[in-house]
Amino acid sequence: MSHSPVKQLNIRPVSELDRSKIDDVIAAAFDGTDEVALVRKLVSDEDIVLELVAEAEGEIIGHILFSRLWIEQDHDRLAAVALAPLAVLPAHQRAGIGHALIEEAHRLLVQQGERLSIVLGEPAYYGRFGYDVADAAQLESLYPAQYLQLKYLTESKPCTTIQGKLIYASAFGES
Ligand SMILES: CC(C)(COP(=O)(O)OP(=O)(O)OC[C@H]1O[C@@H](n2cnc3c(N)ncnc32)[C@H](O)[C@@H]1OP(=O)(O)O)[C@@H](O)C(=O)NCCC(=O)NCCS
Repeated sequence: MSHSPVKQLNIRPVSELDRSKIDDVIAAAFDGTDEVALVRKLVSDEDIVLELVAEAEGEIIGHILFSRLWIEQDHDRLAAVALAPLAVLPAHQRAGIGHALIEEAHRLLVQQGERLSIVLGEPAYYGRFGYDVADAAQLESLYPAQYLQLKYLTESKPCTTIQGKLIYASAFGES
């Protein structure tokens, strides 16, 4: 069953005062603290490209983070971002909060000049936002290929699939 839409949803950048509330949202959404530790490490390593919270009636109910990711090629490396994690408080799930966070984040990433975004997650969910398993098929990754998806943020799909090895922020090696 879907939850009713939240009134006056505000999507905004993170302030450091939000940090413990963000931890609570992530721990509740994932039912554990691995992703909390991941986010804390990404913050301390300064590997974050974009981080937003969803706020309603003064409460933080959702969070999204994009970190720097490199696609290493033979003679080049392409800058990309990795979407992870995305969390919505269980009581507010299926009310469009995740959708609103992703759409606003994509808009801001484009403004920041980012071109490629990669996610590891359910294609049934992320496919709604333009992420595509086929577009990530030539990427070398330690993670299961059926969940790896790529989105072109600013351009239509090129004729050739992007190839290369994914180099995630070091926090991912420790999560
Ligand atoms: C995944 C998550 C962020 C989605 O946020 P949300 O605010 O509930 O999502 P939205 O309201 O924008 O979208 C809801 C739709 O997505 C679908 N959906 C949610 N999670 C899904 C999943 N894992 N696989 C497939 N579909 C999913 C819902 O069924 C719903 O479909 P409907 O619109 O046809 O009813 C949220 O459920 C969550 O925090 N989950 C726990 C943490 C997690 O798994 N994060 C993602 C991995 S990083």
